[in-house]
Amino acid sequence: MDFAARVERIEPSATVAISNKASQLEADGVDVVDLSVGEPDFDTPENIKTAGKGAMDAGHTGYTPSNGIPALKEAIVDKLHGDGLDQYGTGNVVVTPGGKQGLYEVVQTLIDDGDEVALLDPAWVSYEAMVKVANGDLTRVDTAQYDFALEPALEDLAAAVSDETELLVVNSPGNPHGAVYSDAALEGVRDLAVDHDIAVISDEIYKEITYDGVEMTSLGTLEGMRDRTITLNGFSKAYAMTRGTGLTGRQDPQPLGDLRGQLRPARRRRGPGKHRRRRRRDAPGVRTAPGHAGGPVCRPRQGRRGTRGGVLPDAPRGG
Ligand SMILES: Cc1ncc(COP(=O)(O)O)c(C=O)c1O
Repeated sequence: MDFAARVERIEPSATVAISNKASQLEADGVDVVDLSVGEPDFDTPENIKTAGKGAMDAGHTGYTPSNGIPALKEAIVDKLHGDGLDQYGTGNVVVTPGGKQGLYEVVQTLIDDGDEVALLDPAWVSYEAMVKVANGDLTRVDTAQYDFALEPALEDLAAAVSDETELLVVNSPGNPHGAVYSDAALEGVRDLAVDHDIAVISDEIYKEITYDGVEMTSLGTLEGMRDRTITLNGFSKAYAMTRGTGLTGRQDPQPLGDLRGQLRPARRRRGPGKHRRRRRRDAPGVRTAPGHAGGPVCRPRQGRRGTRGGVLPDAPRGG
C-alpha cells in the first residue's frame, strides 16, 4: 500500500509518544507524573454527565447538523457575547468533535501548498503537523528567550511576518508554557495582522485555566481583528471533557462561517490574492525558519483560577 505524500510529511506526535510511555510505566507500577497530554486535574462536572446521560435516554443519539445543533450554537454565541466577541452570530459558529478537529478544518480551509503560517514557539505540537498536512510553510518565532512573553518578541514577529504570511496562530493561555499574553502584546499582533492582511487563529481553549486570577483578552475583541480572527474554544479543558465527550465551538468570520459544515475554499482577500503573492515570495530576502516541535512544559498549579470539579458554573446542556 502506498501512503499519500501528506502522511509522509508528518511525524508521530511526541505528546502521544510520551503519554503512551507514561501509561506503560504506570501499568508497570511506576509512580509517574505525566506532563504529556493536557488532561485537566478535575473530573467532568456532574451536571454535564447527568445532561449527557439524560440526552441519550431522551433519544438524542442520531445524526445532528454537521456544524452543531442550534441550541448549542445559541448558547455558544451567548457566551461569546459575554466575552465581548459580539461579532459572532450562530452563522459563524461551527461545532466540531474536539478542538483539534476544528483547527484542522481551519488550516485545511485556509492553507494551500506553500502558504506561509507563522507560529509562536514553543507551540502545541499539533499546529505544525496540521500545517505540514496542508503543505504550508512554517515561520517560527521563539518566545522562550523572553520567558514566553510575547510583548518583547514583537520585533521578532514583525521580522518574521510579511504580506506573504497567510495565517498566524496565537495561543493564549499557551500550551505548553502557560503564559497569558498582555493586551499590549495582542495589540502588537493586531497591528501586524492588519498591516499585512493576515488571518489569525486565536486558540483560547485554555481561557478558563489560568493562574493567580489572570484573565485574558480575546484577540477578536480588538479593533481591526473582528473580521480576521478565527476564535477557537472548547469543552475539553474547561469542563474536563477529554475522553470522547469533547465538543468545540469554533467561531469564524463570516466567509468561513458560511462553510456550513463543508470544507470549501473561502474567498476573503482583498489585494493581489495569495496565488499572486506566492510568486512574489520567491523573491530573495524572504525568510522561513526551520521548524521544530515544542516540548511539553508544565508549571505548578498553585493559585489557579479554576476550581476542582468545574471551572465554569453553568455546564452546557446535552442534546
Ligand atoms: C493549545 C491546544 N489547542 C487545542 C487543543 C485541542 O483540544 P481537544 O481536541 O482535546 O478539544 C489542545 C489539546 O491539547 C491544545 O493543547
